[in-house]
Amino acid sequence: MTAKSPPPLAVDQLIDDRRTRIIVCCGSGGVGKTTIAAAVGLRAAERGRHVVVLTVDPARRLAQSMGLSSLDNTPRLVPGVQADGPGGSLHAMMLDMKRTFDEIVEAHADPDRAAQILANPFYQSLSSSFAGTQEYMAMEKLGQLRRADEWDLIVVDTPPSRSALDFLDAPQRLGRFLDGRLLRLLVAPARLGGRTGLKVLNVGFGMVTGVVTKIIGSQLLRDVQTFVSAMDTMFGGFRERAEYTYRLLRAPGTAFLVIAAPEQDALREASYFVERLERDGMPLAGLIVNRVHRSPAARLSVARSLAAAEALQGLPESDSSRLAITALRLHAERMRQAASERRLAEGFTAAHPFVPVAQIPAQPDDVHDLDGLRTIGVAFDPELQRRPDTCGPSPAMA
Ligand SMILES: Nc1ncnc2c1ncn2[C@@H]1O[C@H](COP(=O)(O)OP(=O)(O)OP(=O)(O)O)[C@@H](O)[C@H]1O
Ligand SMILES: [Mg+2]
Repeated sequence: MTAKSPPPLAVDQLIDDRRTRIIVCCGSGGVGKTTIAAAVGLRAAERGRHVVVLTVDPARRLAQSMGLSSLDNTPRLVPGVQADGPGGSLHAMMLDMKRTFDEIVEAHADPDRAAQILANPFYQSLSSSFAGTQEYMAMEKLGQLRRADEWDLIVVDTPPSRSALDFLDAPQRLGRFLDGRLLRLLVAPARLGGRTGLKVLNVGFGMVTGVVTKIIGSQLLRDVQTFVSAMDTMFGGFRERAEYTYRLLRAPGTAFLVIAAPEQDALREASYFVERLERDGMPLAGLIVNRVHRSPAARLSVARSLAAAEALQGLPESDSSRLAITALRLHAERMRQAASERRLAEGFTAAHPFVPVAQIPAQPDDVHDLDGLRTIGVAFDPELQRRPDTCGPSPAMA
């Protein structure tokens, strides 16, 4: 049985299309989101677009090579971009989630109140460690960059969550939390004015507060209460902001690239994500399978290569025969790995036959400079995706 090939994903076409304004790179942890986002941004800039890449927690060497030495939440011009023809520029920034949160507070509260909120211990832990804050702030920053309208393409990297879906879910969860009932419940006694307020509350509520106090401690509860009172003017704003960006993600001009390693777990996550995008009417451009292994001599099958190694072993031993035997065995191993990766990718395509797929070869080393990003970007050429032994599908093994 021959597996059906997926339609090739033409990333170059996507970035050359001026109507594409936002590209979101998602996927589960460690699959190459930051690398692909940077490579897409660089390639788009070198093909003439004004691009900003929003990265989340890039490896230090990659950040340095993009001219990002500090976490200052501002897009910086990336030096060394070789724009092809007129125009074309690349800015990059690293997301500073705490700074982004602080800026929202500063923009929505008068200076005294803002200072009070920023100094509040509950706010401080919420803004630097609450699960979902990073996703919320990545979306917030995307919204700000889009409103600034200084770039014609925004490429967004997403936070390193275990599940790719967190990027879509966490902002609304945090928004709901911030303007939600739990916080209102907690703050009720403070709002109603301490003891007097408590009198009008029923026993049930008293029990709730008691339990919550036991769990989170009375100091923290007081912090939460003062935080919520201080944030009063911003209630509703959080959910609204999350919803604005959510709408942006569904708008024409946005494209999602789902990234996966050629491994079972990553491809399963990618599958969930693709289904979710479909359900929510979000525009999926396709799947990028990153770090695939191919052999430069794909015509030499596993069986023939192992048979040749065995034949050589029967001959008198020499340095060159030992070398050849090792090379043949390594080749067989690489071919097996390639076949297994291909089967996994075919499993994805069997479930989602219409989702375009691009494959990016595994590089011998980590990708940490512009040249490395350029090499990754070469695979965005759809012609190359169609050619066997490069990054396209390999021929069947004998
Ligand atoms: N095609 C590739 N070949 C070789 N190395 C790669 C390739 N793509 C990414 N890498 C390397 O893999 C590592 C993880 O990549 P990256 O940081 O982009 O993943 P991520 O999905 O952003 O991770 P996280 O979920 O932690 O944010 C990096 O060291 C990167 O240089
Ligand atoms: Mg990353």
